[in-house]
Amino acid sequence: MNEISLHILDIAGNSIDAGATSVRIDITESRLLNQLKVRISDNGCGMNPVVQKQAEDPFFTTRTTRNVGMGIPLLKYHVELCGGNFAIFSEEAKGTTVEAVFMLNHLDRQPVGSLSGITRILLMNEKGVEFILAYSTDKGSYEFDSKSIKEYLSIKSLNDHPLLTALSEMIKNNLCEIGAEAT
Ligand SMILES: Nc1ncnc2c1ncn2[C@@H]1O[C@H](COP(=O)(O)OP(=O)(O)OP(=O)(O)O)[C@@H](O)[C@H]1O
Ligand SMILES: [Mg+2]
Repeated sequence: MNEISLHILDIAGNSIDAGATSVRIDITESRLLNQLKVRISDNGCGMNPVVQKQAEDPFFTTRTTRNVGMGIPLLKYHVELCGGNFAIFSEEAKGTTVEAVFMLNHLDRQPVGSLSGITRILLMNEKGVEFILAYSTDKGSYEFDSKSIKEYLSIKSLNDHPLLTALSEMIKNNLCEIGAEAT
């Protein structure tokens, strides 16, 4: 995984697996604070403290298809490699928040990458999970909310190729306008 957006895709995938109906991705990119803060929050099944502790261990997974889970340990490893902080806040039956705070100018920090691209993939999920992408920079902020867009367009699903292309272009343009590193 060579982009932070791909870590986000994996963590949001965990949220979908955890039965979330809504997943919120918050990113704050601040040159003033020299910080890139990424938070993925869901209203899924949550984790008890034991599972939460084990989730940071690469050899723990509730998967039945293979016996290692790498999503969380990989993100944690990468954040700590660049002098940042990693934390999980979770409550059973309530939900989970995964937070990674990177030093923005650290030479080993991976590029943020394509958030419009991963949002496109996330919107293709067949479970109808809603996504919010909120990005802020020192210059401004932008929020994409799948539920509001569906209501605005009076449609039940955004999973349509021409629409997904238009939405990912829209996200890209809005991120560009606030001077975001992400595309
Ligand atoms: N948002 C979440 N809600 C509830 N449980 C979670 C959540 N995220 C992770 N977990 C638990 O932590 C475990 C480890 O997650 P991790 O992403 O590291 O590996 P994985 O999803 O099992 O496998 P991989 O990411 O390699 O495909 C999961 O198997 C699951 O039990
Ligand atoms: Mg995972």
